[in-house]
Amino acid sequence: MRLKIAILAGDGIGPEVTNEAVNILKAVAEFGGHDFTFVPLLIGGVAITATGSPLPTATLDACLECDAALMGAVGDNKFNELTPDKRPEAGLLQIRQALGGFANLRPSIAFPALAINSPLRPEITEGVNILFVRELLGGLYFGSPRAWDKAKGEAWNTMRYNKAEVTRVARVAFELARKRSKKVTSVDKANVLEVSQLWRATVTEVAKDYPDVTLEHQLVDSMAMHLMNIPRNFDVVLTENLFGDILTDESAVITGSLGMLPSATLGGTVNLYEPVHGSAPDIAGTGKANPLGTILTAAMLLRHSANLEQDAAAIESAVNKVLAAGHRTADIARGNAAGQHLVSTSEMGKLVHQALAEIIDQRQSMHAV
Ligand code: IPM
Ligand code: MN
Repeated sequence: MRLKIAILAGDGIGPEVTNEAVNILKAVAEFGGHDFTFVPLLIGGVAITATGSPLPTATLDACLECDAALMGAVGDNKFNELTPDKRPEAGLLQIRQALGGFANLRPSIAFPALAINSPLRPEITEGVNILFVRELLGGLYFGSPRAWDKAKGEAWNTMRYNKAEVTRVARVAFELARKRSKKVTSVDKANVLEVSQLWRATVTEVAKDYPDVTLEHQLVDSMAMHLMNIPRNFDVVLTENLFGDILTDESAVITGSLGMLPSATLGGTVNLYEPVHGSAPDIAGTGKANPLGTILTAAMLLRHSANLEQDAAAIESAVNKVLAAGHRTADIARGNAAGQHLVSTSEMGKLVHQALAEIIDQRQSMHAV
């Protein structure tokens, strides 16, 4: 299989974590006899420094020529004084819009080995496997009008959705639910916002085409609480852009670290894959970054853009194996708990690589008999 992958490493820890994910993808290519090419491109703060723009035209054009795009992270304190449209984050929002993916899949899985890392009791996190479907191209992030009128001392943004935008993302959620435990929880603020009333009415209408899937609605405020109290009650969680941004960071508490969360954005011309965490400039270059979120993101890329389900699952098993063996980057190390072994970003990458080689070896020898 041939695959051309745009690599948008970005800022802070972005380059370190994408480097490890690329190594894993190279290993998959080697083991499976695939032809993967990687196209490094500038985005975010590094792109502003080099070209003046957070998303240079050359980056976007090259991405559109690729089969998938893998992001690290964007954001640099150096640009904090700039208006939102000029900041590194604008590069990410622009590329999301230009590539057109509207369904951002963010799985939150409680890894058994990390149960003690969550401040939640193990009996609450045990077995949690939530798939958030975050709408990624609408809502407050993109709605107009938006402005900050400095003279007036007033600023405003607009949470706007139309029925078509809600319908298409709802369909993705219901389709995915069909392959899981057949339950969708749609999250809104329909007791206050008209935009949420439209959201709820539309999702309810879409649900009629999926009689085998149970639909429940939750208000975002109580959802934030339920997510910590009874996370096992949720399977597919469908929500709009900003609510999804907030709830997925909250759900990192279940997994023990934001550094563990991957994501895939589907539905556009080129699918975009990015870990949920940010650029963490405070630990950039120290070897403390956790590459597992990006490595798991690479697994999602293989699953959704290359149909290499077995290899995606092998990467996920390799991550599980490495965690079960006690290897921990700083964010998932817990005091001096017994059996833990603190490793750097690149050591973690190598350990996953080793575990993956073993898993694939076993798979191949099973096929041979
Ligand atoms: C995320 C990030 C982005 C978002 C930022 C960096 C624009 O927080 O992917 O969750 O808000 O979507
Ligand atoms: Mn976020």
